[in-house]
Amino acid sequence: MVNRGTINYLNWVFGACLLVCAGRPLLAVADEVASDALALKNAEQSEGLAETEKVTPDPEKQIPVTASTFVCLQELHAVRGFFVGNLLGKLEETVAAATQPNGATYPAGSVVQLIPTEVMIKHRKGWNPATRDWEFFELTVSQAGSKINVRGTTEVINKFDGNCFECHQKAAPQWDMICEHDHGCDSLPIPNFVIRMIQDGDPRCE
Ligand code: HEC
Repeated sequence: MVNRGTINYLNWVFGACLLVCAGRPLLAVADEVASDALALKNAEQSEGLAETEKVTPDPEKQIPVTASTFVCLQELHAVRGFFVGNLLGKLEETVAAATQPNGATYPAGSVVQLIPTEVMIKHRKGWNPATRDWEFFELTVSQAGSKINVRGTTEVINKFDGNCFECHQKAAPQWDMICEHDHGCDSLPIPNFVIRMIQDGDPRCE
């Protein structure tokens, strides 16, 4: 029997391959099919998202984020295996939170990334208590830059059918929804070396 975990794993491998094996004809076709499926899912999702956003996040606490907010991973600050930035010029505070041995609440403006296409951004306190003021983003990146496919709070699904919030909320409270390897989240079924390849292959860095 093929369980959900196996399907997710295959999806990850497939997705990782699309990122690192770009240029092969078979994958180009597969990519097209995958994009169609994604476009459909996004269309369904943005309807649901519009409702959620109407009731929860507080627009006055929102930090403006557009596609041009997102930059090449190497322009961010590396902390262990991931990257951080701060949209309000408070990089030191974000780095301090990320390097606290017992965890800390990240300051407003924090940008956190593991791979080029998935991002967490911290809005101002009170923006959306359920996600501890984090907004989740799923992007498409290319040499031309970044495109936001999906953004929001508890409803954002990644390309592999995983809900960002559901996974990240499993991190023990002192880690402020940051998973890393041992904070209590379900692991990513994708080996570290593939993550490193994806990080090194960010097409926006050229
Ligand atoms: C299956 C659970 C799961 C899902 C779904 C998931 N993540 Fe993660 N995420 C993780 C784990 C585990 C890590 C840490 C992996 C590592 O350090 O190698 C991680 C790492 C991250 C990081 C780096 C900081 C950290 O928490 O370690 C960001 C940012 C991130 N994910 C954003 C997202 C976004 C945005 C989505 C949805 C578009 C998403 N994730 C979906 C489990 C998940």
